Amino acid sequence: MSDSPAILVIHGPNLNLLGTREPEIYGHATLADIDARLAAEAKELGCELESFQSNHEGELIDRIQAAMGPVDGILINPGGLTHSSVSLRDALGATSLPVIEVHLSNVFARESFRHQSFVSGIALGVISGLGARGYSVGLEALVAHIRE
Ligand code: DQA
Repeated sequence: MSDSPAILVIHGPNLNLLGTREPEIYGHATLADIDARLAAEAKELGCELESFQSNHEGELIDRIQAAMGPVDGILINPGGLTHSSVSLRDALGATSLPVIEVHLSNVFARESFRHQSFVSGIALGVISGLGARGYSVGLEALVAHIRE
């Protein structure tokens, strides 16, 4: 790792619809708003940051596999794949990179099928229910962890 850790932000299925998608649950910030805020915070924290969104499980897995080597940590909101994808978890686990899982909504206050996460077991930490701020909290924690 250089002085400037490389962070990969992954946004899973349907998160491209943020801003218009059930705003009472997910808030009014668009994905572009969230990525712009993270890019500004990354500058302040002195880290490199790349964001990637896909609605396709295989594309997400390909991007995660490609992170092995050039990336120092992953911040991920896996969307609905959180609750269904063993393959996504396996890809994240295979990288051996520190992973922070973020959810805009408090998944534990919602339907019971959202209470299970396949990702949490390999995550360094999980942030759920803080809205868009959760990504910022996660980024700061991830960079601090990498620098420790
Ligand atoms: C989500 C919660 C998931 O249950 C849901 O499928 C999403 C978004 C969140 O950010 O709150 O797509 O990950």
